[in-house]
Amino acid sequence: ENERTLAIVKPDGISGNYTISITNIILQSGFTIQTHLTLHLAQDTVTTFYAEHSTKTFFPSLINYMTSGPVLIMVLEKVNAIADWRTLIGPTDARKAKITHPHSIRAMCVEDLRRNCVHGSDSHESAAREISFFFPGYAVILDPS
Ligand code: CMP
Repeated sequence: ENERTLAIVKPDGISGNYTISITNIILQSGFTIQTHLTLHLAQDTVTTFYAEHSTKTFFPSLINYMTSGPVLIMVLEKVNAIADWRTLIGPTDARKAKITHPHSIRAMCVEDLRRNCVHGSDSHESAAREISFFFPGYAVILDPS
């Protein structure tokens, strides 16, 4: 069964010119890009999107980072898209990713723990929420028809 996930190339990914490499990896890995949008996110938008992290000490720094420049937001589709995209991007702490997952996207472009270059929905529930947050009308699973 095909499913969809939300991917974001974060500000450091865009400013570091990794967009084309990341897009190539996405397509070579069998995903299709269903829709995409380049946006400079507002503080309110990021605050709502990352609401689950609002009590963390790094929250203000996360908001600063995610509003520091444009981001590329994509809906990716393929069988097992949610888990496979998380595997492809590598661990959150990309300093570790460089050692344990040297072929991951984060190992390629990461700066530090905060600036980890890409986002991927971490579960079916997150994917459903995050896709409809940016793309109302796109569901995580296709309508059976
Ligand atoms: P992600 O796991 O996609 O979503 C939460 C983000 O917060 C994470 O990517 C990083 O960009 C950022 N983040 C996580 N941990 C820290 C930290 N300790 N300090 C600063 N930023 C962090």
